[in-house]
Amino acid sequence: MTKTPGGGPPRTSTADIVELVETRTPHNYHPLPVAIAEGNGAWVTDVEGRRYLDFLAAYSALNFGHCHPDIIGAAEHQLRRLTLTSRAFLHDQLGTFCAELAELAGMEMVLPMNTGAEAVESGLKVARKWAYDVKGVPPDQANVVVAAENFHGRTITLISFSTDPLARRGFGPYTPGFRIVPYGDAAALEAAVDDDTAAVLLEPIQGEAGVIVPPVGYLAAARKICSQRGSLFMADEIQTGLGRTGTTFACEHEGVRPDVYLLGKALGGGIVPVSAVVADRSVLGVLHPGEHGSTFGGSPIACTVGRTVVALLRTGEYQKRAKELGVHLHERLSALVGGGLVEVRGRGLWAGIDIDPALATGREVCERLMQKGVLAKDIHGSTLRLAPPLVVTMQELDQAVDALEQVLLELDLERNVSRRRRLTAG
Ligand SMILES: Cc1ncc(COP(=O)(O)O)c(C=O)c1O
Repeated sequence: MTKTPGGGPPRTSTADIVELVETRTPHNYHPLPVAIAEGNGAWVTDVEGRRYLDFLAAYSALNFGHCHPDIIGAAEHQLRRLTLTSRAFLHDQLGTFCAELAELAGMEMVLPMNTGAEAVESGLKVARKWAYDVKGVPPDQANVVVAAENFHGRTITLISFSTDPLARRGFGPYTPGFRIVPYGDAAALEAAVDDDTAAVLLEPIQGEAGVIVPPVGYLAAARKICSQRGSLFMADEIQTGLGRTGTTFACEHEGVRPDVYLLGKALGGGIVPVSAVVADRSVLGVLHPGEHGSTFGGSPIACTVGRTVVALLRTGEYQKRAKELGVHLHERLSALVGGGLVEVRGRGLWAGIDIDPALATGREVCERLMQKGVLAKDIHGSTLRLAPPLVVTMQELDQAVDALEQVLLELDLERNVSRRRRLTAG
């Protein structure tokens, strides 16, 4: 029998767990009714022993799969040595992690934080400070230009410049200082940037919006606009970065080097939240003692896990897998356009697919996929996101796409049957 941590009766059935979660946590999520007990590579097993392919990979936080042996091994070793010191003291992992991550990104410094939202918040603070201290923007006049349909996290400031009513409504008053322009429109971006613009903050591919890839040349144009106006180009690579799109950073697809990378998710190896603001000394050097911090940011365990992630990425193996298998995934998904899918977007092992809304909602498709042993997540309406761990095999990819194909066929069949019934009844 499974021993429940912290005592109390073990919860071994999905129904029990659903009931407990429903009554004991606020309903800020709408999870699929699957209760996972174990994970390995691209696979998870639920409390009743059913196996599923994980095609969400914790929104890319599990790029290296569940329980990657190198990451687990390094974490286990560190857990027995030292887990936390706070930043009041130094420890033997911090400097090395920061140096190794900075080198991977081709930058000079790393500010370690925990969650993605914290990395973005920290990046915004750094950008404002840089605008006042270095660029010479008058006090409290700095603005940051962002894109519509963005997703950067859930804090008050980050939702202040969200365009998603669901994310914003009921949480005002909002933080001022942000200008929102349409994503992918370089002319609109150029028009919004002025002398007081501290930074332009963009996702190289918008994940939550539906895996929206901007027009070719957009990131390069954003880079150029920032350079010309003396503003920082901040790339939120929290979901796109660290291998997902077939390169270490998605900005590389356009040969763009931003001034600031915001990283998170996969940096924690699927174990602990590890995020970072990565930039040169000319940018991160604006912070002084007392101006910013985090109790857990840059902890020994976070740094050890982060170092292992950097080491895995240095091999280039995961980027290569994402690139090569991504071609196969997109080929297979594109073949379903017209057969239940309306559109397929994305890059590498990352796809946003639009289901024919006449067939089903994204949620319905996810529920049916779950019945066939594949876990995926709808984003909104009829859009689904597929993001398997980068350790997924070609065979596993095919298995998941076969399941999707079957679901679409079944839905089409059911639609035709009910249509015929209605005709006969009429
Ligand atoms: C692009 C991007 N930025 C920031 C975040 C926020 O990360 P976290 O949920 O770790 O705060 C996310 C999360 O999905 C994201 O996709």
